[in-house]
Amino acid sequence: MLNIRFEQAKTLKEKPQDETKLGFGHIFTDYMFQMNYLEGKGWYDPRIVPYGPISLDPCCVVFHYAQEMFEGLKAYRTADNRIQLFRPDKNIERLNRTNERMCIPQMHPADVLQAIKALVEVEKDWIPHSEGTSLYIRPFIIATDCHLGVHPSKSYLFTIILSPSGSYYAAGINPVKIIVESEYVRAVRGGTGFAKVGGNYAASLIGQQKAEELGYAQVLWLDGIEHKYIDEVGAMNVFFVIDGEVITPTLEKGNILPGVTRASCIDMLRSKGYRVSERPLALEEVRVAAEEGRLNEAFGSGTAAVVSPIGELNIDGKTLVINHNEIGPIARMLYDELTGIQWGRIPDPFHWVEPVCKG
Ligand code: COI
Repeated sequence: MLNIRFEQAKTLKEKPQDETKLGFGHIFTDYMFQMNYLEGKGWYDPRIVPYGPISLDPCCVVFHYAQEMFEGLKAYRTADNRIQLFRPDKNIERLNRTNERMCIPQMHPADVLQAIKALVEVEKDWIPHSEGTSLYIRPFIIATDCHLGVHPSKSYLFTIILSPSGSYYAAGINPVKIIVESEYVRAVRGGTGFAKVGGNYAASLIGQQKAEELGYAQVLWLDGIEHKYIDEVGAMNVFFVIDGEVITPTLEKGNILPGVTRASCIDMLRSKGYRVSERPLALEEVRVAAEEGRLNEAFGSGTAAVVSPIGELNIDGKTLVINHNEIGPIARMLYDELTGIQWGRIPDPFHWVEPVCKG
């Protein structure tokens, strides 16, 4: 159990008035959680302090060798004004798997959950009220040792910041346009694809930039070895429905992010009797299925993106329109059921919700 100290902010910010204009990740709350680590001492000095710049020596390992990780989850306000999290245990398990890959020390899951809940409770007035909004929670760890040798750091800084957010895409739940990246790759077997690290996203930026220039929301990444199998989309995992079979790329090769929303979609679909396969999915299989009229729908899943239908897929310059560019029935059902549980509108038979406090 952490003994969290609290440092009062001198002034508080004005909260956003228009919740329809929140967007994603632009606004940050008054406080952040921080805790340090030093080899031999462990994690120490847990504190909630005013949100503000972090002062670091320019020689810190994180600036040179990107030894860092991050997570993403959300707090929701229910209609009867309770504050709750969605499967935080899954994010915390993934945090420790990422830490292991990045040579960052493990954290005690109960401590991380306590830190998240404590900060969310302090900042509960920042949690928006409108349909489709939430408080995005971004925990992250950076390596703070000062040297230019390529070695794991012996000291770290763990921080949690909060951002009241609306939908990730400007289009909201409307279908997004995705382009298949034919030149660059995001991850390879044995790399860090399964881990939530900034480096994966840094490597993806050139593809994202290209996509945006061409009018696409995101990139569909193919496997880094054969450039043949579908991996994931920039900020989401991906599902294709072919002949009624719901297919999502397998996590087995270790190059795909094991999304919490991905796992929840799979559990939800199986509980309702859908045929779900986690298997290698070649881009060619999707292309042929579309040509033969057997591609029923496609969608992405992610904490930020929730469930996001894919209306258009650009493969080598050819546009494939999926489900007449409309929200498919499976994506609609998953969106309604998951957000229903997250916002407390429907019962939670899976016990996914973690209560925090009254709103
Ligand atoms: C999330 O969905 O929480 C993510 O971290 C994806 C993206 C915003 C990087």
